Amino acid sequence: MTVHFIGAGPGAADLITLRGRDLIASCPVCLYAGSLVPDEILSHCPKDAQIINTAPLDLDAITTHCKTAHDAGQDVARLHSGDLSVWSAMGEQIRRLRALNIPVSVTPGVPSFAAAAAALQTELTLPGLAQSVILTRTPGRASSMPTGETLTNFAATGATLAIHLSIGNLDHVISDLTPAYGADCPVAVVYRASWPDQQIIRTSLRSLKSDVTENITRTALILVGPALAGDGFDESCLYATEYDRRYRPQTANSQWSGWQHGDD
Ligand SMILES: C[S@@+](CC[C@H](N)C(=O)[O-])C[C@H]1O[C@@H](n2cnc3c(N)ncnc32)[C@H](O)[C@@H]1O
Repeated sequence: MTVHFIGAGPGAADLITLRGRDLIASCPVCLYAGSLVPDEILSHCPKDAQIINTAPLDLDAITTHCKTAHDAGQDVARLHSGDLSVWSAMGEQIRRLRALNIPVSVTPGVPSFAAAAAALQTELTLPGLAQSVILTRTPGRASSMPTGETLTNFAATGATLAIHLSIGNLDHVISDLTPAYGADCPVAVVYRASWPDQQIIRTSLRSLKSDVTENITRTALILVGPALAGDGFDESCLYATEYDRRYRPQTANSQWSGWQHGDD
């Protein structure tokens, strides 16, 4: 048997991969991470599946559930919100399972930063404004940050920042970012991206604190950087008429002339 780690996406029930959905449907046991996985996704489980909310469990208890299923020859669907590569606690679970010789697989999901960008209809890497996206967070009660991974350091890059797990830390965000980005730097807060009660606040570092409404206390992303203005950027070379490229050679002498699909 295998423990299948599956990214359940940001919230909307149809933002899960077909592979993830099919794996859920094939597993007699489903462990899911609390309130961020919608009931509709759990409805893909087989009718008689054992479905366990892991929010109140510790790592030992979660590992025990996987071991019990393994001993019974049952596959497990292990659901986490968004994608598994960021803030999913998958790493520590896989380490425990490997120590027990329990096989795992990993199926990616739509991360919340991508769902937030989609809600904003914004490209986060706009030519001339930003070509990097930094996924980060501020320190929390249970998580300190490694030395060097400070907002001040990231701000020095001028990149687009996607700040997770930090909606309760706005003073920290504003004071660390304003010196580098300026108080007028555009900011978007996306609350529960892709859920029916999604909320979008477009603001600036100056007005961030006053514009975030009281109901937004968790499950929100703070996106900061000049790209959030959605304007004042260059066009890319990709579709520029005169740009000589593999798929659109401009002259008979182009290095790409004669190149065909399938060539390296
Ligand atoms: C424990 S992390 C999980 C991240 C997740 N693995 C991902 O791929 O986005 C939870 C944080 O992700 C962000 N988040 C998760 N889902 C979200 C959503 N639907 N809308 C906005 N932010 C979300 C929030 O910053 C939240 O505090």
